[in-house]
Amino acid sequence: MGQPQQPEGAEAEAAATGTGTAATGASASRPPLRVGMVGYAFMGAAHSQGWRTAGRVFDLPLNPQLTAICGRDADAVRAAADRHGWASTETDWRALVERDDIDLVDICTPGDSHAEIALAALAAGKHVLCEKPLANTVAEAEAMVRAAEEAAERGQLAMVGFNYRRVPATALARRMVAEGRIGRLRHVRVTYLQDWLVDPQAPLTWRLRKELAGSGSLGDLGAHIVDLAQYLTGERLAGVSALTETFVRRRPLPGGAAVGLSAVSADGTTGEVTVDDAAVFTGRFTSGALASFEATRYATGRKNALRIELNGERGSLAFDLERLNELSYHDGTEPGAHAGFRRILVTEPDHPYLDAWWPPGHGLGYEHTFVHQARDLVHAVAEGRRPEPSFADGLQVQRVLAAVEESAEKNSVYTPIAV
Ligand SMILES: NC(=O)c1ccc[n+]([C@@H]2O[C@H](COP(=O)([O-])OP(=O)(O)OC[C@H]3O[C@@H](n4cnc5c(N)ncnc54)[C@H](O)[C@@H]3O)[C@@H](O)[C@H]2O)c1
Repeated sequence: MGQPQQPEGAEAEAAATGTGTAATGASASRPPLRVGMVGYAFMGAAHSQGWRTAGRVFDLPLNPQLTAICGRDADAVRAAADRHGWASTETDWRALVERDDIDLVDICTPGDSHAEIALAALAAGKHVLCEKPLANTVAEAEAMVRAAEEAAERGQLAMVGFNYRRVPATALARRMVAEGRIGRLRHVRVTYLQDWLVDPQAPLTWRLRKELAGSGSLGDLGAHIVDLAQYLTGERLAGVSALTETFVRRRPLPGGAAVGLSAVSADGTTGEVTVDDAAVFTGRFTSGALASFEATRYATGRKNALRIELNGERGSLAFDLERLNELSYHDGTEPGAHAGFRRILVTEPDHPYLDAWWPPGHGLGYEHTFVHQARDLVHAVAEGRRPEPSFADGLQVQRVLAAVEESAEKNSVYTPIAV
């Protein structure tokens, strides 16, 4: 595979001793990790920030290089390359994955192309970062896991982009759960609420078409909260009972390009919405703890509201993405007279990821999760260590999503998660 080239002389010494810094960034003198990215819109912009910034903030063992970006429209992808700092462009992802000067393929396209691109990239000897949800079906995700396992034997790595694991406050929550600070888990309560579909005239973008997106709010928002709930607790869901709904069944077809969550409608022609607008489900963890999940694009006034609370025998933790520099913690072992939820401002140097950022109290935001994602993946590649979340983790989330759909089709019957 296209291994990063080894530096010589002073660069090699700096790489070996970890002392190399340069005006262009802490990691500039390190061997390159040459990235090729497919898709250049919402996640393309977010991942570009991650790759561009990670080596300038963190002292990385490899220097990420924005080598090539791919999209189907030559002018648009050239403009994206200029804006986001990519050195070259491709208009066919097949050409991108075959390039000898690419070490890692970063997939930022809708779900219908994740499996095909990932399989081709792994076959071509590349490491792969794939946006969530891993695939549109369990069968596709299984094929991706098989390919990733074979590729791992050759030293190639594969990771899924569940970026909410990389908020310092959620990473701290994970650490505190692992330390036993909330004790035995009883409840997980998690909601992920958006409102960009409240207007029935909002157009029928790819996110509303099953053949492109796999599912609706379930795969888009539900995938994130299932992964986050399992990551924070360190447990797996054993089964679910679900309701899904499509509130508006026909929408105007989009006119022109649709980017991220926004698009304009065309001339009044409509098309059928073939995914869920909202998914509400309960679940049981393998430990017996109970969970409730809500994912919707119809929560009027809620823009990107992800909230999670864990209750254990010894304490509770709560996180709200709208206050992402904070973590709420209740220590249930304290005397009742002065116990209560306390706000931890997660900006101290010994909090996850914070040692390389700003002085305490100078908070981070959404885009930093993509910097942390790039940082973690670069370390995994350099150390030959399998990164998390793995494709197998992505497959397990996919199985939960499939069980939710199956349960919803059967009047919420409790549906075990296939192992
Ligand atoms: N991690 C997160 O928080 C997060 C947020 C939003 C989206 N996502 C995920 O990221 C992925 C992309 O979503 P988005 O919001 O960036 O979508 P988007 O519509 O903003 O961008 C999609 C991009 O993919 C390109 N594309 C589509 N098919 C292609 C093909 N066959 N070849 C080359 N390029 C192609 C489009 O031209 C566009 O540049 C999805 O899997 C989505 O679920 C993740």
